[in-house]
Amino acid sequence: MMQVVRGIAELRQVLAGSDSTGFVPTMGNLHEGHLSLVRAAAARGHPVVASIFVNRLQFAPTEDFDAYPRTFERDCELLRSAGCDLVFAPGERDLYPEPQGYKVHPPSELGDILEGEFRPGFFIGVCTVVLKLFNAVQPRVAVFGKKDYQQLMVIRAMVRQLALPVEIVAGETERATDGLALSSRNGYLSAAEREESVALASVLGELRDAVRAGGGDLPALEQAAAESLRARGWAPDYLTVRRCRDLLAPTAAERAAGEPLVALGAARLGSTRLIDNLEFRV
Ligand code: PAF
Repeated sequence: MMQVVRGIAELRQVLAGSDSTGFVPTMGNLHEGHLSLVRAAAARGHPVVASIFVNRLQFAPTEDFDAYPRTFERDCELLRSAGCDLVFAPGERDLYPEPQGYKVHPPSELGDILEGEFRPGFFIGVCTVVLKLFNAVQPRVAVFGKKDYQQLMVIRAMVRQLALPVEIVAGETERATDGLALSSRNGYLSAAEREESVALASVLGELRDAVRAGGGDLPALEQAAAESLRARGWAPDYLTVRRCRDLLAPTAAERAAGEPLVALGAARLGSTRLIDNLEFRV
C-alpha cells in the first residue's frame, strides 16, 4: 500500500529506522522517464520514496511556475504501478514555512553556464530544494535523470563538496519512438510542434557525427547546428559539445584522445523550451 505524506515531521516518523531509502525527487506530471528512475531506485534501495513538489524557487518570474501541469492523482497511480512505497508531496508551507533565506549557491563555473546562463538562479533553486528534500527523506540513494544532464552534475558536485551521505545514481533518458526525449514540458507542444520537436535530438546527433568526423573547429560546428535549428523555426539558446567531467569545452587533443563528451542543446519551439543531450566519444 503506497502512502502519501505531506509534512516533514510525519515523513520522518514514517521513515524512522529506514537506513536504505531510495529516493526520486520530481515535480510531478510524471512520464515513463520518471518511472524508470523509480524502478532504478527500487533496484537499489528500500523503501522507495518519490517526492512531488513544484519548486517555486527554481522558476524565474517569467517562467511557467503557474502553468506547470499539476496531475497529482494520475502521478500517484503511475508511482504505485512503478513500485513506489511512499509519496512525499509537501505543500509550499510544508517545505518553505518561512522565506528561504539560506540557499545553496553552486560554483559559478558549473552553475552559471549553459542552463545557468539562460535560467539565472535556476540551480540555486534546484540545489536548495534538493538539499532540503535530502534532509527530509535522508535517502541512501537518490536517482536523477541524465535528461537534465547539468542538473545531475550540479547535484553530484553538491553531494561531494558538502559530504552528504547519499549516493547519486544516474538514470538514462527515455525517448519516444521518434527519438524525442520524454519531458513534462512536451505536453505544451501543439501537434505540429510535437512532430517538429524531434529535430533537437536529430541536430545534436548531427553535431556529434560532425565532431566524430573531425571536421572544422568546434565553435563553427556548434554554430552550424544552431543555424540549422534556427532555419526550421526554433530559437536556440545553445548547442554545444562539452567534456562530460566538468562541462567545459574540450581541446582538439582531448577530443582526439577519446575524452568522454556530451552534446547539449536547449532551444525554444514556439513558447516551449526543450533541452536534450547525447553522450559520445570521438
Ligand atoms: O528535475 C526536476 O524535476 C527538479 O529540478 C527537481 C530535481 C525535482 C528539483 O525540484
